[in-house]
Amino acid sequence: MTIRVGVAGIGSYLPERTVTNHDLEKVVDTSDEWIVQRTGIRERRIASDEQCSSDLATEASRMALEDAGVDAEEIGLVIVATATPDQQFPATALRVIENLGCSNAGGWDLSAACSGFVFAVQAAAQYVRTGSMGAVLVIGVETLSRIMNYEDRTTCILFGDGAGAVVLTPHDRTDGGMEYLAAYMGSAPDRDAIIQPGGGSRIPASHESIDSGAHFLQMDGRRTFKFAVRTFTDLVRRSVADHGGASELGIVVPHQMNQRIIEAAAERLELPIELFFSNVASFGNTSAASIPIAMRDAKEAGRFAAIRGKLACMCAFGSGLSFGYFLLRV
Ligand SMILES: CC(C)(COP(=O)(O)OP(=O)(O)OC[C@H]1O[C@@H](n2cnc3c(N)ncnc32)[C@H](O)[C@@H]1OP(=O)(O)O)[C@@H](O)C(=O)NCCC(=O)NCCS
Repeated sequence: MTIRVGVAGIGSYLPERTVTNHDLEKVVDTSDEWIVQRTGIRERRIASDEQCSSDLATEASRMALEDAGVDAEEIGLVIVATATPDQQFPATALRVIENLGCSNAGGWDLSAACSGFVFAVQAAAQYVRTGSMGAVLVIGVETLSRIMNYEDRTTCILFGDGAGAVVLTPHDRTDGGMEYLAAYMGSAPDRDAIIQPGGGSRIPASHESIDSGAHFLQMDGRRTFKFAVRTFTDLVRRSVADHGGASELGIVVPHQMNQRIIEAAAERLELPIELFFSNVASFGNTSAASIPIAMRDAKEAGRFAAIRGKLACMCAFGSGLSFGYFLLRV
């Protein structure tokens, strides 16, 4: 027997500290005009010195649990998608479990950078679908500011910190909530396009690795841009192919990378830009956290309530290169 899976609740948390493009003008050779024109980003949030990923994740999860009407003790599994865990081990998920009091849960971290949240939702859905879990908490969180080189203007202007979370349960517990319909994941190996090379088994932390900046996020912007537009377009097409086509789409909530990427994909798909939810201007690229943060904002803006019965496509693409989507019936 398979159980229909639903999204019971959505939460997000953004740190208070806002860093505007004008603030970055004082740190690197850039301008508000350049950043807005090339990316659409105006500001991003940065965690305080006292906050690490589990702190952001805990706040977002509290909101998601409350939204779902699910108690922390009901959660059987916590998955944290992140490229910036509290530390390599133990898993950040365990700290979140402790913070929330999820006394009946196990947990693990999932490392797939910007695609992490979409993959984590896919994994979580299988536990609910098979009946082995009654409620799973899925979190996307990043403190990318901790691996950012604030002397590299090609990367530091793009990224921000934040967290988002959803609670998956059987659909009949969601009070008419969104139903998980389908999903997909893929890869196109390209190791260097976006990478944090240092700190793992290939380049362990050393004085040399630190001196060479191997612990910072490094990226080939143009290569990533082209990949993103192509992949984004393919994912949206593929997601609706077996579900009535693009006319059934009520909203696309993409990984928030760059407004130009969203606009280019909309144009290629010949779909109105209004269909694509974007908050990249306010938060920049928060990697694994961007989709659940955008889902929460879309919910608060009444975007889901306005499209009952339609499809919502959440698609992600990033380091790896990796990509995927999950599709909901709103
Ligand atoms: C990074 C990105 C905004 C750069 O935009 P672009 O139009 O491709 O710009 P280019 O890299 O061609 O650089 C154009 C010029 O601007 C300069 N430049 C780069 N960053 C700059 C900045 N922050 N401020 C001012 N000038 C900058 C470059 O040095 C280059 O100068 P040159 O022509 O004298 O060499 C864009 O490629 C992008 O968004 N890529 C996707 C990256 C991404 O989202 N990655 C995350 C994946 S999850």
